[in-house]
Amino acid sequence: MVIPAAGVGRRFGGNTPKQYLELAGAMVIDQVLGQFVEHDAISGCVVALSADDGYWPDSRYAQHPRVQRAPGGRERCHSVANALAALTPLADDTDWVLVHDAARPCLRRQDLDALLEVLRDEPVGALLAVPVHDTVKRSRDGRHVEGTVPRAALWRAYTPQAFRLGLLRDALREADRRQQAVTDDASAVELLGLQPRLVEGHGDNIKITRPEDLPLARFFLEQQGRPCG
Ligand code: C5P
Repeated sequence: MVIPAAGVGRRFGGNTPKQYLELAGAMVIDQVLGQFVEHDAISGCVVALSADDGYWPDSRYAQHPRVQRAPGGRERCHSVANALAALTPLADDTDWVLVHDAARPCLRRQDLDALLEVLRDEPVGALLAVPVHDTVKRSRDGRHVEGTVPRAALWRAYTPQAFRLGLLRDALREADRRQQAVTDDASAVELLGLQPRLVEGHGDNIKITRPEDLPLARFFLEQQGRPCG
């Protein structure tokens, strides 16, 4: 399991990175790690952290035996690549690795298990995703509409995303070599010509990005009856 957590949250603003904000009695990243560290199918977590991260030592998982840290990178894809390098001596290249954003605390256990179930019979890998229901506009200047993008074939890519360790490592290396910006793990695998499987999840698996997302995440956790603190 890899948790990229080295972002500074430019769009969120404020001093505290979003993964360390308080949410329902725990830090956002602790709500995330809580879903994975005790899961039977997950043998350990590597968390990618900025070198100057002063918040992580306050995590309740900072000293957990199944959690280790790796250095963060310039972009998310570099943080994930660093975490995979830390996993490489500990795992086989054919082992599945799940990657989940540190800022997505509302993942449902049911969606995680649906993703794991699909991996039993899926050679390439899979990701949680949700169909796009809104009408989507295209605009380059951010002011005027150039056109409407047909939404029937569009999905929002969520995490976790699961790929075999060796494949994901090679895919991220290749994306870097081609200087292709990839904002999720599946995009790197797609660049190799492969087609990851979509697993429809719930829309409440939001990534905390803007300040208004935090009360929304609190509401979703409450609705899910997740224990606080
Ligand atoms: O910036 P964005 O919201 O796409 O970040 C998604 C996840 O990637 C967050 O958990 C963030 O902490 C992480 N990240 C990272 N290293 C970076 C940038 C983002 O680990 N350089």
